[in-house]
Amino acid sequence: MKETVFSGVKPTSIPHIGNYIGALRQWVELQKDYNCYYCIVDDHAITVPQDPKMLREQIYAIAATYLAVGIDPKKSTLFLQSDVAQHTELGWLLMTQTKMGELSRMTQYKDKSKKTGSESAGVGLFAYPVLMAADILLYDTNKVPVGHDQMQHIEFTRFLARRFNEKFGQTFVLPQPLIQKVGARIMSLKDPSKKMSKSDESGAGTIMLTDEDDVIQKKIMRAVTDSTAGISYDPEKKPAVSNLMSIYHHVTGDTMKKIEDDFGGKGYGDFKKALAEVLIAHLSPIRTKINEYLKNPKELNKILDEGFEKAHPIAEKKVRAVKDKMGLAR
Ligand code: AMP
Ligand code: TRP
Repeated sequence: MKETVFSGVKPTSIPHIGNYIGALRQWVELQKDYNCYYCIVDDHAITVPQDPKMLREQIYAIAATYLAVGIDPKKSTLFLQSDVAQHTELGWLLMTQTKMGELSRMTQYKDKSKKTGSESAGVGLFAYPVLMAADILLYDTNKVPVGHDQMQHIEFTRFLARRFNEKFGQTFVLPQPLIQKVGARIMSLKDPSKKMSKSDESGAGTIMLTDEDDVIQKKIMRAVTDSTAGISYDPEKKPAVSNLMSIYHHVTGDTMKKIEDDFGGKGYGDFKKALAEVLIAHLSPIRTKINEYLKNPKELNKILDEGFEKAHPIAEKKVRAVKDKMGLAR
């Protein structure tokens, strides 16, 4: 029997090339060998304030993106988290098995609550890793393909699953993270010490999957470089150019050694021009497909309905088993 993969992206904006390289591209490959669940995690999106109209648009944009990058709804289960109420239900059941201290140590919570201070941080934001654990554990997931920033949440999921199994008897499969060696952390084009992020205010450090060709060109040409010249891969000493090389590597499949050989004697300008060219060639068909899918919300709804039909019975069965173990079910 095939092993199970589960992953999700929050519908908080159009995905950027960090999401694509760190997560979505792996998802496409995994469809060959795994039973895959790819979720649009809208219940997670509302842990920070969202405009309802925009949120609904983003849900469709993520669905269109999943399809455009190559997620095949015939092979994989593509669905919307809030359609399957068992996610929030298992989230609650697991919350009762979680300690405040365990969640207050999560780095994503610490980062995101810094702005408001913990007194004003949302309870949903605080409990976010428990909902993520529920997502994963509902489907007996073996592998979770994500970017590096999600590592701690998956470790927490394993910890929580193990604790539950020990207390109530074998119920959950312990999942493993699938994190790529290169590209698990694509950095901002404007500040290579920060990860590329949807919340980049100016947008200049982030390439969105729907950016037009000229915008991609401009952002790459204006990307910061390192103080020492030369195209060589050294994320410690040359973080900016190493980041650009990671992007180039993922788009072309060229090894770092080949990139160094090809561009060794050339300047940053030449390398950036080549990078812009390969990136545009790679992203423009994806952008076209996203826009095509977005014109057909009926088709997107149909695919999400079919995903719901496949995910719901599995999730329901698992929640029933959990309630039974905890003494809740009649
Ligand atoms: P999010 O947009 O936070 O829902 O993230 C969706 C997926 O993209 C997760 O698996 C993240 O780990 C991954 N991801 C987000 N930002 C980056 C980045 N800058 N580099 C690599 N992966 C990323
Ligand atoms: N927390 C993930 C992120 O911010 C999104 C997510 C929610 C997720 N549930 C998940 C990823 C389950 C993998 C598996 O990117």
